[in-house]
Amino acid sequence: MLVEIDNLQKRFHVGRGKVLHAVDGVSLTIQENTIVGLVGESGSGKSTLGKALVGLHDKSGGEVRYRGETLPGSYQAADFRRHSKNIQMIFQDPYASLNPRMTIEEILTEPLKLQKQCSAAEARQRAAEWMEKVSLSAAHLGRYPHEFSGGQRQRIGIARALITQPEFVVCDEPISALDVSVQAQVINLLGELQKSMGLTLLFIAHDLSMVRYISDEMVVMYLGGIVEQGPADDVFFEPKHPYTKALVESNPVADPKREKLQQHKLIQGEVPSPVNLPPGCRFVGRCDQASERCHSQRPELKPVAGRLIACHLYD
Ligand SMILES: Nc1ncnc2c1ncn2[C@@H]1O[C@H](COP(=O)(O)OP(=O)(O)OP(=O)(O)O)[C@@H](O)[C@H]1O
Ligand SMILES: [Mg+2]
Repeated sequence: MLVEIDNLQKRFHVGRGKVLHAVDGVSLTIQENTIVGLVGESGSGKSTLGKALVGLHDKSGGEVRYRGETLPGSYQAADFRRHSKNIQMIFQDPYASLNPRMTIEEILTEPLKLQKQCSAAEARQRAAEWMEKVSLSAAHLGRYPHEFSGGQRQRIGIARALITQPEFVVCDEPISALDVSVQAQVINLLGELQKSMGLTLLFIAHDLSMVRYISDEMVVMYLGGIVEQGPADDVFFEPKHPYTKALVESNPVADPKREKLQQHKLIQGEVPSPVNLPPGCRFVGRCDQASERCHSQRPELKPVAGRLIACHLYD
C-alpha cells in the first residue's frame, strides 16, 4: 500500500480553551497508481487532511505511513525532506501559490535545487521540458506569473509539483479557481500525467461529477470523518449513506446518466460546529432516517457491499 492513514486527528485551538476538530479519526488507504477523489461540503476537513498528509500541518494524533514507513510529524522535521521528493501538493489558487517576484524558470527549478537532484544546467533543461509537457512554451521561462492566464498558471503549478517526479500528489481543488472553459483541459492534463508517470493522486473537489470522471475511488467526508468510500461510479450512481445521497442530489452539475434523479435540492438543516460536535453521528441533525441510536453512538466505517459506510442503517 502506498499511503496508509490510521486514525488521523487534526485539532486547532481556536481560543478560550476551545478546540476545533477539523479531522477527527480518519483512516484511509491509498493504492499506488490510482486516483482517489475526496468530496464533502465546505469545512468538512478535506484541505486539512491533505495538508496533514504532505506535512504542511502537524498531526494532533494518529499516523500516516508511506510505503510502510511512518511519516514524521511535519515537513519541518529533517526527516520529512527524505519523503518530500515523493510527496507533493497542487493548490487551488494558482496565483497565490506562485511567487510573483520569481520567473517561471526560478519557480520550476527551485524544487530541484532544494532537493539537490541535479546541476543548475540540468535543472534549466528539466524546466524547459516541463513547459512543453504542460503545453506551454519553453521560450516563456523568463516571464513572471502575472503574464500568464489562470489556466496557464495552474499548468505551471502542476509542472512545479511534478518536476521532482513525485509518486503521490495531493491536488486540492486544482480547477475550482479556473474558468469553466479551461477546467476540462487542466483535468485532462492531470489525468494524462497521472497515467504516463504512474502517479497516485488524492484529488479534492466539490464537483462530484468531475470527481467521478477522474477518480477510481471516491471518499466522502462530513465534519472531519469519512462517511462513505468506494469505487467512484458506485458511490456516485448508487450513494448509500444519507449524507452522500443528499450530496449527490444537490450536485449542481448535470450528468446525463443522472438526469432523472437531478433535483438540485439543498441539504436540509444546519451543519453542527466542529467545536461542539454531537456525540453520535455527525449527520444526525440533518438526516431524515435517524433513530435514537444515531444520537448517542457514532457509527464506525465498516464494509458494506463492496464499499465502506459509517451509518447505523447498514449495521
Ligand atoms: N488554521 C486553522 N485554524 C483554525 N481552524 C481551521 C484552520 N484551518 C481549517 N480550520 C477549520 O477546520 C475545518 C476544516 O477546514 P478545511 O479547510 O479542511 O475544510 P475543507 O473541507 O477543505 O473546506 P473547503 O471545501 O471550503 O475548502 C473548518 O471548520 C475550518 O474552519
Ligand atoms: Mg479546502
